[in-house]
Amino acid sequence: AAGGLGSEIVNVINKLQDVFTAVGTSTSQIDLPQICVLGSQSSGKSSVLENIVGKDFLPRGSGIVTRRPLVLQLIHRPATTPIPKDNPNPNIDPNEWGEFLHLPGEKFFDFDKIRQEIVKDTEAKTGRNAGISPNPINLRIYSPNVLTLTLVDLPGLTKVPVGDQPKDIEKQIRDMLLKYVSKPSCIILAVTPGNQDLANSDGLKLAREVDPEGTRTIGVLTKIDLMDAGTDVVDILAGRVIPLRLGYVPVVNRGQRDIETNKKISIALEAERDFFEGHASYKGKAQYCGTPFLARKLNMILMHHIRATLPDIKQRITTQLQKYSAELQSLGGVMGDQSSSSMVLAVITEFTSEFRNAIDGNTDDLSLNE
Ligand code: GDP
Ligand code: NA
Ligand code: MG
Repeated sequence: AAGGLGSEIVNVINKLQDVFTAVGTSTSQIDLPQICVLGSQSSGKSSVLENIVGKDFLPRGSGIVTRRPLVLQLIHRPATTPIPKDNPNPNIDPNEWGEFLHLPGEKFFDFDKIRQEIVKDTEAKTGRNAGISPNPINLRIYSPNVLTLTLVDLPGLTKVPVGDQPKDIEKQIRDMLLKYVSKPSCIILAVTPGNQDLANSDGLKLAREVDPEGTRTIGVLTKIDLMDAGTDVVDILAGRVIPLRLGYVPVVNRGQRDIETNKKISIALEAERDFFEGHASYKGKAQYCGTPFLARKLNMILMHHIRATLPDIKQRITTQLQKYSAELQSLGGVMGDQSSSSMVLAVITEFTSEFRNAIDGNTDDLSLNE
């Protein structure tokens, strides 16, 4: 079931991530598992993420739209509130909402408003003219219709500076992306348009630099609908071009025209399924194509990954906890006001015990269910 498998562990990890962001603890000290998109500009990274979430809320388009990292925590939560019969706005479901870390306590039920807030806060930190910033936006989405996952939308790899971008924009973006994708705890979605040569894929190249064994890179092939008639990605899927251990998933996202005409995601997902089931090259393996398969594959890989990294995360948390205790003791009597340090300690202690319970209760259940 969506979000059922090991979702307790992921929930705890999401909480930890929030705590560390809130108290400003360097996240490099504790690497929590997350999924990042990597690819050149306009390869379809934001579109892929939006389709996985199943909601319209990310700024997308043909230009440099994503200019700050967006750390997106999806939290599966069963529906508890019935939708009113005469729902004044059919786009609003009382069971689905978003919350930004920079706007505590404010619930966004209207996903158009979420997109507007992302654009607003992006411009506040980077200006309007194509500037970029490594300073992330943190957004949580609660919904009965998502798998529990943490996803990071990242700016695309680019070579030529435009607008207010500095001359060394290529290096700046690369360095920013490296901070996320070089962590062993990061699962990489290397996004490449199907209508481009795979050998020239910037996303795949960078992914291979940081993950040479290919143990945490999934290839995502977008724009399959834009490929020339008579061409397909069957050879890539079969591992005959650039093999990837975790394989490739072909997808069809909404095109620029669909964005302009506000084509609904549910309609687009149906169209994607019809595309693969009706295409001579893919119909025999349509169950391994498209966004729903990508989402299932991701959840499964994430669960394995969490299980594999749990002992390490646990060790790091214990070490940090000991460090905080020692620091607090050495400060005792010297500092008048210990309240903020002890608050941090209390919060970390609480989450550590919750985390341990989740580990002890769940590791045995994290088996493959495919
Ligand atoms: P990003 O810059 O990598 O985040 O790419 P976006 O998701 O913003 O998409 C860039 C452009 O490509 C937008 O106009 C999308 O509509 C279009 N696009 C992305 N994926 C597909 C696809 O699978 N098919 C088609 N036809 N267009 C796509
Ligand atoms: Na774009
Ligand atoms: Mg984008």
